[in-house]
Amino acid sequence: MLTTLAVQGYRSLLDVVLPLGPLTVVTGANGTGKSSLYRALRLLADAARGTAIGALATEGGLGSTMWAGPAHLSATMRSGAVPVQGTRRSGPVRLQLGFASDELSYAMDLGLPRPDGTQTRFALDPEIKTETVWAGPVARPAAQLVRRKGPLVSTRTEAGWQEMTAALAASDSCVTALADPHQAPELLRLRESLRGWRFYDHLRTDAAAPARAGVVGTRTPVMAADGSDLPSALATIEEIGRADLLHSAVDEAFPGSRIGIDVSAGRFSVLLHQPGMLRPLRAPELSDGTVRYLMLAAALLTPRPPQLMVLNEPETSLHPSLLGPLATLMRRAAEETQLVVVTHAAALQEALAPDAEHVHLVKDLGETRIDGQEGPLDRPAWVWPSR
Ligand SMILES: Nc1ncnc2c1ncn2[C@@H]1O[C@H](COP(=O)(O)OP(=O)(O)O)[C@@H](O)[C@H]1O
Ligand SMILES: [Mg+2]
Repeated sequence: MLTTLAVQGYRSLLDVVLPLGPLTVVTGANGTGKSSLYRALRLLADAARGTAIGALATEGGLGSTMWAGPAHLSATMRSGAVPVQGTRRSGPVRLQLGFASDELSYAMDLGLPRPDGTQTRFALDPEIKTETVWAGPVARPAAQLVRRKGPLVSTRTEAGWQEMTAALAASDSCVTALADPHQAPELLRLRESLRGWRFYDHLRTDAAAPARAGVVGTRTPVMAADGSDLPSALATIEEIGRADLLHSAVDEAFPGSRIGIDVSAGRFSVLLHQPGMLRPLRAPELSDGTVRYLMLAAALLTPRPPQLMVLNEPETSLHPSLLGPLATLMRRAAEETQLVVVTHAAALQEALAPDAEHVHLVKDLGETRIDGQEGPLDRPAWVWPSR
């Protein structure tokens, strides 16, 4: 289980260390940095898929994702005695991401290439500067298992530190490039667990949404990120022995209704039998909220629970009466998967409260802070490995 997420220099997350529980609910007003936290987790997962640099580029490049405030906010700037002004950056421009878990922990440090006088059009390409993998929650030097500095990657063996390569490309993560069952089994384990992390954000429900279309049915234990295989995912949940859970989730949300899967010529489509209707309604006829709820149910009832699932603003377009049944699904899912729910629905947070770690974000001079973390002692132990 992940115990801590740490982010430095990513959008409004200048310096954030947050605790994670089996079920974590992240709340905050608009613009406090909830989606940025979601994206920071995604970027970590992207590193293991080899797509972190590309993901940063689609977000506008390192220049736009880097913290846009001054390198240091002084006490006088905080109190308002002097206006916020740029201070000369003392260190290099950097973005750091990391997490600690009971087992393997990881941190990466991204920055811009050092100008070396060569002419290149790629001077703004982010580079992975350092990566560190360690055992247990705190990055003590004695706990380190793998470390990367620029192109150099070493792993700890019984005989001490051993160099794995001196030529890792700046855009490659050692987690993807060097995972090897013999030379670096911990990188392989880390890569597999990061690759399993599952993210759902902006599940589309408009008229042309992929989830409303029929699909050629195949066994689908993991619903796609856009819900395009929703009918297959629901049919798989039913057949694999979770039919009761699915039917009670639907009945709790839409009393008396029952989900069905229409199969014709190998194509699956979703049907909803509702009280008072002479025929079941098909996916294109269902309301946005209904389609979204069915997608969330399919995601949360997955017969193949991941190590970590992260949902960004799942409540969008859901009627408040669906938040209770959604919370029930989430609590159940959190028994077999670590769940992070980013939401601005107070009702959802309240419904989850008894079982959840609650992280409330606030903004202070443009910087995201965690409510209740007044000093360093209030936050989880976290030390960035040295660059
Ligand atoms: N490079 C940056 N530096 C500092 N702040 C940024 C940067 N990019 C975006 N922001 C701010 O971060 C916030 C992003 O919040 P976001 O995570 O989308 O909020 P939420 O999901 O909580 O509504 C916005 O208020 C935006 O102004
Ligand atoms: Mg948001």
